[in-house]
Amino acid sequence: MIQFDVDLGARSYPIHIGQHVIEPFLADAISGDTALVVTDEHVAPLFLNKVLSQLEHLKTDSVVLPAGEQHKNLTTLTTIFDRLLERRFDRHTTLIALGGGVVGDMTGFAAACYQRGVDFIQIPTTLLSQVDSSVGGKTGVNHPLGKNMIGAFHQPQCVLIDTDSLCSLPPREYKAGMAEVIKYGLINDRPFFDWLVTHHDALMEGNLNLLAEAIERSCRNKAKIVAKDERESGVRALLNLGHTFGHAIEAGLGYGKWLHGEAVAAGMSMAAHFSQQLGLLDKEAVQQVDALLEHTGLPRLPPAGMSTQVFLSLMSADKKARRGVINLILLKNIGEAFVCSDYPSAELELFLDRYLSSQ
Ligand code: GLY
Repeated sequence: MIQFDVDLGARSYPIHIGQHVIEPFLADAISGDTALVVTDEHVAPLFLNKVLSQLEHLKTDSVVLPAGEQHKNLTTLTTIFDRLLERRFDRHTTLIALGGGVVGDMTGFAAACYQRGVDFIQIPTTLLSQVDSSVGGKTGVNHPLGKNMIGAFHQPQCVLIDTDSLCSLPPREYKAGMAEVIKYGLINDRPFFDWLVTHHDALMEGNLNLLAEAIERSCRNKAKIVAKDERESGVRALLNLGHTFGHAIEAGLGYGKWLHGEAVAAGMSMAAHFSQQLGLLDKEAVQQVDALLEHTGLPRLPPAGMSTQVFLSLMSADKKARRGVINLILLKNIGEAFVCSDYPSAELELFLDRYLSSQ
């Protein structure tokens, strides 16, 4: 069993990683006498009873949301508030997010808002949510005009990552999670990128020991960055590598068509190619990035049919855009990402024109 903290002073919390981490840690992390488990229709039949069985000493209830990014919106969020109010759960209640990134983001946001803020616990069940969205306190929902546009920073009480939950994960979801794992290697951890290349086949075959190591290294990387910059005024922006292009793909296609990790994979490849066009990254490094994404079975190219204008319009609505300038996370090398805002905007348009027409 692995345990370490996200170090945020009074808001610090532990991440537990391993097999069977729910039973020893869940009940102790709840301070009140009520708890609402929020999950979705795919996860509920697999894990809901297991979680509720640890809470028999409390007054509990559960909400089962429809699955998928297309339901990550204010309408679905309201069903969580409805249940909390119908059951008269007070401000000492704890919300438990049991599921992937969509469930985690919505439950965290509900916890941030309900009675001006209640406790919540993350039990992420997909690889993507285990290595990224369950850590760091970003919560929220999508708006038709932009991904995660309505949200709050709200840190959980703890993150319980049960690696056994990955055994039932559909291969497409697993690959999508690997996109966020690869991201940490690209941002600032070249040895991790090389380790992923070396152990790729065993990781894709589901070797649980290697997976636990990949999850730990990813979460430690994220925890370090979040501890330096909780509310993304600086270095945390690096965690958005591939996300500005990726969010445009998700919104442009319609939420739920591509998984978030698939859009991030194509977005990271686009960031690498744009870095090459600007003379920042050499061709060999771009090929290494593309080779690992392709080998993992992730999309490298954006979906056909999205135009330069659609990309530019959605990217300029991104939260990282300032006064019309689209800030991008680019690469100087594998393991050396940086925030770039001073590239010529005509270069981005040229890049998109060329890249989209080369498909
Ligand atoms: N997923 C990016 C972040 O948590 O900052």
